[in-house]
Parts: sequence; C-alpha cells; structure tokens
Amino acid sequence: MSEGSSCYFLGGRNNGARFYDYFLIMFKRKGDHPVGILEGKKGLILGIANNKSIAWGVAQAATREGAELGFNYLGDSLEKRVRPLAESVGSTLIEPLDVTDDAQMDEFFAKVEAQWGTLDFLVHSIAFANKDALHNPFSTTTREDFHLALDISAYSFIAVAQRAAKIMNPGGSLVTMSYLGAVRAVPGYGVMGVAKAALEASTRYLAQDLGEHGIRVNAVSAGPIRTLAASAVGDFRKLMEKSARGSMLGRNVTQEEVGNTTAYLLSDLSSGVTGEVHYVDSGFHIGAGDPGIAQD
Ligand SMILES: NC(=O)c1ccc[n+]([C@@H]2O[C@H](COP(=O)([O-])OP(=O)(O)OC[C@H]3O[C@@H](n4cnc5c(N)ncnc54)[C@H](O)[C@@H]3O)[C@@H](O)[C@H]2O)c1
Repeated sequence: MSEGSSCYFLGGRNNGARFYDYFLIMFKRKGDHPVGILEGKKGLILGIANNKSIAWGVAQAATREGAELGFNYLGDSLEKRVRPLAESVGSTLIEPLDVTDDAQMDEFFAKVEAQWGTLDFLVHSIAFANKDALHNPFSTTTREDFHLALDISAYSFIAVAQRAAKIMNPGGSLVTMSYLGAVRAVPGYGVMGVAKAALEASTRYLAQDLGEHGIRVNAVSAGPIRTLAASAVGDFRKLMEKSARGSMLGRNVTQEEVGNTTAYLLSDLSSGVTGEVHYVDSGFHIGAGDPGIAQD
C-alpha cells in the first residue's frame, strides 16, 4: 500500500490529516520497501570468516532490515576477506578482535563506544576446537583441548556480553549460535557439544543477569551448514545427509534462513523473548532421527 493509497482508503488525502499521519507512521516507505525491523539500530556482527559464514547470513539480513553494522576479524589473513564484505554493506567499523585476548577485547569495545556511543545488538558467531579433539574419541579429550574449546566457543560469549552490556541501550539484544550437539550426543562433535551446552546455559544466565537492564539474550541452534568451521567436524557430509533426511521439511537450512531468524531475535518483534534456544533446523530436533517426510 502506498502513502497515497492508504489515504484514499480513508476517503482522500484532504479529508484526514490525522489518519494520513497515522498511516505515514504505520506504512512509512523507504523507496519501494517497507521500513526494516532493524531500522535505526546499530549492531556488531562477530565471527565472519568468509561469505559462507553464518554471521555473513545474519549481516545480510540485518542490512536489508535497516541496521548499521560493525564487524570484527581474526588476524590479518581474515581481514582480507572480512573487510570487503563489511564495506559492501556500508560498514565503517571493522576492527581486529581475537576473543582469547582480553586487552584486544577492551580495545575493540572502546573503539565501538568512541564511534557509536551506544549499541543496540550483538551477534556472537564464534567457535573453535582443535581438529584432533573432534576426530579422536571424546573420552580421550585432553585438558588443554577442553579449555581451548570452552574458552573460545562459550566463555567468549560472556566476555563480549559483559563489555557490550555497558554500552547497550535498553531493549538491546544479544544472540549466539549453537548446535544440537549441546543436548544430544552427535558423532564427530565431541568437545564442541560440551562447549555448546555451556554456551546455552550461559545464554540463560546472561538473560537472567541482563534482563533487569532491558537486555535480552538468546541462542539460535542452527542445522548443519557447509562453512569453514563445519569442515572440522568429522564426516560432515554424512551429518548433512542425515539431518536433511530426518528433518520435518526433508532438507537442510540455509545461511539466509538462519540470518532471517536471527534478525527477528535482534529486533523489537521478539521483545518478549529471552533466555531461549531457537532451533532453525527444518524441525530435525523434534524428530527421532527417522526420515521426517517420505524420501525417494
Ligand atoms: N556451520 C554449521 O553447521 C553450524 C551449525 C550450528 C552452529 N554453528 C555455529 O555457528 C557459529 C559460526 O560458525 P560458522 O559455521 O559460520 O563457521 P565460520 O568458520 O564461518 O565462523 C566461525 C568464526 O569463529 C571465528 N573465531 C574462531 N576463533 C576465534 C577467536 N579466537 N577470536 C575471534 N573469532 C574467532 C572465526 O574467525 C570465524 O569467523 C559457530 O559458533 C558454530 O559453532 C555452525
């Protein structure tokens, strides 16, 4: 409905200035598009490695919905990939951040505060485990591999949340990325499943702490998607096949679908939702692993 047609509906532009103002707010247009659900919001997207990253799916959805975005990159080699992607969505806030480095983390958030003042949302899409720790039997996990996986994949969400919360506006939203391995024993996922369990529990405790400041904290549990991090998971091809077959929709999800659901959780449309783990997995988690719909 255009501005003109909304007034025509009420009997003509001259007859209803009050209604016209009302419809201007309700159906405000930006070019040919309705106003996005993240219009006027500023948010950080942490965890882009390349254009296959789930975080890039979120960045595209958030940009389409009107958000202004800031990004991190891990080391010089990833900067070459992240910077052009970030610039393609108009970002001017692109800074290094290794979440194992507290000093760099403080520096990163100081730059965010200097450039933006305040923040409306943050997406944490970061995980790491030694490949051997995923390929060897879980019962042989070393203390070192356990610490590394939990530090980067779970503690880092607490670390960024505590810094982000200091500059976050009421109504702010934090979202992290989890996987079914948090609550089920998934072959080849091992210590990362333990890290995701800690991440999901951290989501609930952060929601409890930050709720009084009007900040919401949620996790998206995504079905398998072919990315750099996913290539470390043992027999990922088989995992994808099983997930598609056992899902209610009979297919795997896309980076775009995870991005869209995350945009909803970042927006005021989900203002009553916090401490939640929201599955975006074609309904795989509700099944018993059998084909959800008939397969040829
Ligand atoms: N791909 C999947 O199938 C899938 C499914 C469910 C959940 N996830 C989760 O989604 C998130 C994003 O992963 P992805 O699949 O997009 O892969 P990805 O490789 O594109 O992203 C992982 C990111 O983690 C970052 N990272 C690793 N160590 C870091 C550190 N010390 N400091 C800062 N950043 C660091 C990497 O730079 C990379 O950008 C992860 O939490 C992953 O577990 C992935």
